[in-house]
Amino acid sequence: MGGQATIEAITDNFINEVSFNETIFQYFEKTNITRFREKFIEHLCVDTGGPCTYTGDTMLKVHQGQNITEADFNTTVDLLVSAMEKAGLSYLQQNRVLRILAPMRGEMLYK
Ligand code: HEM
Repeated sequence: MGGQATIEAITDNFINEVSFNETIFQYFEKTNITRFREKFIEHLCVDTGGPCTYTGDTMLKVHQGQNITEADFNTTVDLLVSAMEKAGLSYLQQNRVLRILAPMRGEMLYK
């Protein structure tokens, strides 16, 4: 997919997209973005086959108490798609990532 540099580019683009989206940014208002960046990169790296180790919390624990709605989840996926697009991923590559992330949805919605 492009290795570590591409994963980092996707993550930085994603953070940028979130910062420009008022609705989604609200969720991240109190977040330590340096930590988020580090853990999101690790997570995405493991998701896409590594080699790396995820040292963050479980998806359930991290998103618990946020009461993420389905609409906001979908918006966030759109922002990630833009982030992947800007990082140069093909549609096939974008879809591969989305297919890996999609099953995690249940650990995030309305928790
Ligand atoms: C499949 C989609 C998603 C993935 C893979 C994902 C992944 C992650 C990761 C790896 C972290 C950092 C964990 C840590 O610090 O230990 C995180 C944190 C966070 N995520 Fe997600 N996330 C997803 C969807 C969402 C959605 C839809 C929202 C809200 C609309 C959201 C809001 C947040 C927030 C606010 C934090 C920071 C929590 C804090 O400040 O402690 N995430 N996410």
